[in-house]
Amino acid sequence: MNSIIFIDGKFYPEDKAKVSVLDHGYLYGNGCWTTLMSNNNKLFMLDEHIERLYESAEIIHLETPWEKKIVKKWIFETYKKNLHIKGRKRIRVGFHRGVGPDVIVDNGQLCKPSINIIVSKYPEEKEIQAVRSGLDVMTVSIERVFPESKNCNFLPSYFASIKAKESNKDDALFQNRDGYITEATTGNLFYFKDNNLFTTSSNILKGVTRDVIIQFAKMKNIKIFEKMFKLGELLLADEVFISGTTKLILPVIKIKEFLMDSQAKIQFN
Ligand SMILES: Cc1ncc(COP(=O)(O)O)c(C=O)c1O
Repeated sequence: MNSIIFIDGKFYPEDKAKVSVLDHGYLYGNGCWTTLMSNNNKLFMLDEHIERLYESAEIIHLETPWEKKIVKKWIFETYKKNLHIKGRKRIRVGFHRGVGPDVIVDNGQLCKPSINIIVSKYPEEKEIQAVRSGLDVMTVSIERVFPESKNCNFLPSYFASIKAKESNKDDALFQNRDGYITEATTGNLFYFKDNNLFTTSSNILKGVTRDVIIQFAKMKNIKIFEKMFKLGELLLADEVFISGTTKLILPVIKIKEFLMDSQAKIQFN
């Protein structure tokens, strides 16, 4: 059965849920979003995801005319309309710059912001397999755009995932121009060394799951260090894992440095 999608105060069946081709979210990747998960009909870390969504919007100077409590209400309403979807559900809440005059006229300032909420079934088989076998990953020399916000410029993650797939890898780790590893295509990076926990600190999306892990580590008196590190340091780790809302925690068992091809180098420069 079709999912029911929320757009700007109204609900639509999936095949009738349309936005304008003139939305700057579509034209320029000008928007942000968050993805949260339900488990036994509980929306995990809902308030934290809403907070992060507003932070993402602020970073890219996106106007958000909706009160947080209204957005929360809309999320619950949309979720309830999609209870017919079985299994773990993924809830994607998107803010778009919306439709307005051409970008060169006012830089999107006169656009009417738009919000959408999509509930879908999460395909988990691949992730279950990955937890059993662990991830085989490689590095890619690409940087995300406005990395502290979860924004609609998803091309770096998309491109890195394609590169990983082409090389028969499960995922890719972004390596910035100074050689620091930042994060995975859709997850944060952690490693254990001598019972201390390390995670990257800057030019990353500060994941909601990352925060939960940091809080949990503190509760368990595990020393946690937020800092930047290069591949060499990661390769000396006792254990490496990736965290994210949909994947939760996935162990990394193999890391291969990968030299980008000439096309990717052009993108990087
Ligand atoms: C680039 C990137 N880093 C980290 C994360 C993890 O964030 P969260 O734990 O909030 O899902 C994501 C999630 O999609 C992501 O896209």
